This record gives sequence, C-alpha cells and structure tokens, in this order.
Amino acid sequence: MRPQDIIRHKRDGGELSREEIASFVQGVVGGEWADYQASALLMAVYLNGMTTAEMEALTQAMLHSGEILDLSHINAPEADKHSTGGVGDKTSLVIAPLAAAAGVCVPMISGRGLGHTGGTLDKLEAIPGYRVGLSLREFEDVLQRVGFAMMGQTAEIAPADKKLYALRDATETVESIPLIVASIMSKKLAAGLGALVLDVKTGSGAFMHDEGRARALARALVRTGNSCGVKTEALLTDMSQPLGVAVGNAFEVRECLDIMRGEVTDGTRPVRDLSVELAARMVALSGVADSLEAARADVVRALEGGAALERFRSNVEAQGGDPRVCDDPGKLEDWTLEEVKVESVRAGFVTAVDAAEVGRAVASVGGGRVRIEDRIDPAVGFLARAKIGDELKAGEALGLLYCRGESGAVEAAARIRAAYTVRDEPPMRVPELIKEVIAQ
Ligand code: URA
Repeated sequence: MRPQDIIRHKRDGGELSREEIASFVQGVVGGEWADYQASALLMAVYLNGMTTAEMEALTQAMLHSGEILDLSHINAPEADKHSTGGVGDKTSLVIAPLAAAAGVCVPMISGRGLGHTGGTLDKLEAIPGYRVGLSLREFEDVLQRVGFAMMGQTAEIAPADKKLYALRDATETVESIPLIVASIMSKKLAAGLGALVLDVKTGSGAFMHDEGRARALARALVRTGNSCGVKTEALLTDMSQPLGVAVGNAFEVRECLDIMRGEVTDGTRPVRDLSVELAARMVALSGVADSLEAARADVVRALEGGAALERFRSNVEAQGGDPRVCDDPGKLEDWTLEEVKVESVRAGFVTAVDAAEVGRAVASVGGGRVRIEDRIDPAVGFLARAKIGDELKAGEALGLLYCRGESGAVEAAARIRAAYTVRDEPPMRVPELIKEVIAQ
C-alpha cells in the first residue's frame, strides 16, 4: 500500500481499514514511511478523528509493534491501573500492593515525571536502592513472588509509540483523542492484562483541563480497551488541586506509607479513598470478588489489616530498596532542607488552585523535570495544607515548601502563593473527588 493513498483516504474523511492502519504503523517502525508522510497522516487524524474500529486497529498495530508479556504461568488474573497524571497523584504506590494483597497480579509499567506532573518511577526511586530498570525476566520473577512489580518502559514495548509520539510532539498533534488512546492503550496492554482501570483526571493540574474533553477521552479509552478484549473502566476524577498533601517524590512515598500504616489525616484521605476505589474496581473487574461491594470490603481489609504494607515491603526488598522505610517512613526525609512557609497574603476562603503551577514550582526547585534529561532531587517538595473551601487568616500557611538553600526558594514560594486564589466568599462548591464512573 502506498502511504500517499492512505494519507488521502484519511485527509478526505474516510475510515481507514485495519490493513491500512497496520501498513502505516509497520511503515513507521520499519522506516518505509518518511517522517513527513507519517506527520501528514497524524495531522489528518487530528483534524478528522477516528472511529472506535480505527482506534482499536491503531492500538493493536502499535501494541504488536513490540513484545507482549506472557504471564500465563502466573496463577492470578492480571490487572492494572493507569492515570492520565496530575500533581501529587501518588495512588499507584498504594493501589498496586492493595490489589495484589486482594488476589490480583499487577504488572505495572510506569513512566517518569515531566513538566508539572510527577511519575511513579521517580517516586519509587526516592526509596534508597530501589531499582525500576528491571529486565523482563526480573520483572516476571518479582511479579511471581510478590504479586506486583514496577518498572519503566523498555525499548521492546510498543516501539511505534516512541516514534509516533516524537512526531506528534513536533507537529502539534499530541492533543488528539484517538492518538492519545492508542498511545496509552498500546503500552498498557503490552503487559498482557485482563482488566484495566483508568483514572482520567480533569482540572487545573490535569493533562486535560476541560471536563468535557476528559470525559470524551475516558469514554474512548473504555470503548477501545473493551474492544481489544480487556475489561476496562474509567473514573473521571478531580485534579483542580494537588491530590492529598505531598507534592515531591520522597514526601509522596511517605504519604503512601503513612496511609498503608493506618495513619490517615483529613488532608491525605482523598489519596486513601481514591486508591481503595480504583483497587476495588481492579479486583471486581478481574473476577476475584463477586461484586464491587465485596471487592471494596476485601481491599479495605487488606489496607486496615496491614497486608498491603507487607506486600509493599516485599516488593521494596525484591526490587533492591531499603525495606526499613516501611517501619520508619521518616527515614525518607532529608532534615538538611530549608523549610519555607508559604503564607496566604489575605484572609478568606481558598476558592481555586492552579495545581499545574504548584507542580511547576516544585519542579523548579529540583523536584521534577523541566526537560527530559534533568536530574531530580527526590527530597524536595511542597506539603499542601490548605484545600479548596478552607478558611484562612492572613499569614496562615497555604503549605510548606522544602528546598535546598539558594535553589530559587523565594521565587518558587511566590509562584505557589500566586497559584492559590483566596476570596471573601466561600467557593460555590467544593470539587467532588470522583465525578463519574465510565463503564462500557
Ligand atoms: N500519555 C501517553 O502515554 N500518550 C499520550 O499520547 C498522552 C499521554
């Protein structure tokens, strides 16, 4: 098939066949398609969209451009969770051990943080010694022994996505729902899952700020996952302020350990509640529990009885980390950091937070990456004390920023202060954590 014919078909609003889509993906990976031809097709998709059948075919073609894990020797159903990312979004660290303790096998292939969003791999690396660069053999071994394993994307998994994402980035075609769906699903399905739960975030710290677009993405992801034979559900969740309290890698791990140790505060409760709900849906979709209610009860028992913490400890040991952090999460903190109180300049109610700006301010003091090659300082971060709806006095803390001296603390604190809107009147409503469940 000639690239020109496939490009024209999509340019003119047609529906591409499975063969045309496979020819495109193979041509991109094999080098038969020039970058300018692939970019032209990406733009045609951006402008004209794709049907569910096309999204499924694109996902399958990208998935089959690389290796798919065969975990059939593991005697438990495989399920995973994927979040579209946000600020303080640390639930993977609680969900994976929770779901594993409730009987699900969780092969979690995660990413790194970039810009305002954090990444699970960076959080795990805040644990001294923890290795995320496992070989596929090591990954399978940890899975078999612990019930969950965490690693980064390898060159063998969906190589078409790497190439296509770079072209999308250079041609302003990243924000196309069909292209996002195929990118996310091809990488997630490479873990050989039976069930997948998606956490699609919306609000100021989300990849998709607009709730309508986030809902459309969630629906497309769910339709495509199910049509690829993976039981898929999505929750549309709030990202209009940092999730929980901690923003910054070591602080976020500590928050998760505190939750698994039964130490939950008003500030960290959203992380606990969202983790329980997402893990319970993984357990229910996998058929390990008879109903969602039974799955919730299993998951809460695993959390409150300490089984999730024990799974986490086994995983940290198996992946080379120091398991003593499970007994003393304070070990993760660096007591040499400077503490800067970020104060509200006026009295009133917190009515809005620019969560992305909070994430960028933490990245600016070393807690995240501005560019992909930046090194991260795992210890620095921000503890967000004030939440939307809270009433503050003038000078009261919005939160505490921890950073190295001379690392731009004053500027970062000013950015965070400006990211919080404080008004005389309380907000019309406090955002709901879970806005909608999208099932097939
Ligand atoms: N995350 C991905 O993995 N791919 C996209 O295209 C967008 C977000």
